[in-house]
Order: sequence, then structure tokens, then C-alpha cells
Amino acid sequence: MKERLQKVMAHAGIASRRASEKLIETGHVRVNGKVVTTLGTTVTDADQIEVNHKPIHREAPVYFLFNKPRGVITSASDEKKRKTVLDYFKHQVTERIYPVGRLDYDTTGALLVTNDGKLDYLLTHPKHEIPKTYQAKVTGIPDAADFQRLQTGVKLDDHHTSAPAEVRLVKKMGTDGQNALMELTIHEGRNHEVKKMFQAVGHPVEKLKRTVFAGLKLADLEPGQWRPLNKREVRDLLELAKGELPRENK
Ligand code: URA
Repeated sequence: MKERLQKVMAHAGIASRRASEKLIETGHVRVNGKVVTTLGTTVTDADQIEVNHKPIHREAPVYFLFNKPRGVITSASDEKKRKTVLDYFKHQVTERIYPVGRLDYDTTGALLVTNDGKLDYLLTHPKHEIPKTYQAKVTGIPDAADFQRLQTGVKLDDHHTSAPAEVRLVKKMGTDGQNALMELTIHEGRNHEVKKMFQAVGHPVEKLKRTVFAGLKLADLEPGQWRPLNKREVRDLLELAKGELPRENK
């Protein structure tokens, strides 16, 4: 896979992307022995990159499963200085990690965090239809017609209809059973997809938690906790991303 030179430099821990761009523009960077000053340059794993005549060492990939708490943002930095997912890894993980995909500020649950750009690309590409399972507490109790619409696809806005999803009622909630805890597995990941789907059938989401991402289950990870993936999980994830495993979320 081709990646921008400044991104590869940043991932190798050379400098931030901005600072890496400066290094490129000012002639400090060589690709396969030739000075490169163009910012649009892309490189592959096979290219030799040197900064100030020293070859850069790309970081070994690392993979973590994180249980994102409410009130934490998924982007790497925030203008409003809100807490970010990466704050939970500070001082413990030195690699340049970032979250794969997004969860809303108020959504909790399974989030993959890695420095593997290729995996990030594969898992977030809509073509790969990576499964994600959510538990949503919704207002009211969806009826058979609502189930049918969620399963086959609901119109989300003027341009989008959701893809087929698996849905089940986990339990009725609230003192009079006036809320439902629903489980929904989707294979796409537009912004606010789950909230929009339930909104579209007249049962707005009150609380949302992702319980499984690409086969990775939260299990007993508490909000704010993370753990490294084991070798088998990494292998399965890479195979799933390459399309060599069935896309189940069991
Ligand atoms: N769908 C949503 O609506 N929100 C999320 O955070 C994830 C999926």
C-alpha cells in the first residue's frame, strides 16, 4: 500500500506530520537515495527512506482493544481540550498509535487502537463490510415492522439507506418496560449510523455501547481499560481485513 511520505515519517517517530513536511521541503529526506522535496510523494514498504542520511526504522505494529468511556473523543487531539482516547495510553505506549474508526463522544465500548496504517485502511474501507455489534437502549419498544425495516434497510437521509443489519431485542427496560435494550450488528460505519437507524424507526437511542468490533469482544474490559491483542486475535484480524475470514461477529 502506498502512503504519504510525511505520514510514514511520523509513524516512524521522526517528527509530527507537519514537522516531517518541513524536513521534506527543506531537502533533508531521501527516498531510495534521491532527495525528495515534493509533499505529494508516496512510498511503499519497499522504499528506503533516509532523514539526514540516517535510515528510518518503521515501528513494529502494535494492537490494543480499548473500552472507550462516555465523554471521551476518538480523534487524536481536540481544540476544546476534551479528554481523548489516546490520553489513556500516554506514558505507557510509545508507538504512534491512533484509533481505528470512530465512536461518538457519548458512545462507550470496543475500539481498536493501533499504529498499523494498512490495517486501519482495510478495516475502515466500506468495501470490507467489517461487522460491528452495538447494544442500544432505545425509547419505546420496536415492533415487528420496525424490526423488518432495520433488518432490510431504513432511509437515513436524502442520500443514504442503511444496509441490511441483524437485530434482536435483548430485554425490555425501565420500570414499566417502556424502553428496550436492542442488539444491532451492522457492516458499514457511517457517522452516527446506529442512532440514525433507530431514530428513523421512531425509537431514538438513549445510550449506546459497542460490544464487538471485527470479532473483538469487550468481555470484562471496564470503561477506560485496554489490553494488547494476543497473537491469535491479531492474525484473525489481519485475515478478516484481507477478506479471508467469514465476516461474523460472534
Ligand atoms: N453509530 C452511532 O450512532 N454512534 C456511534 O458512536 C457508533 C455507531
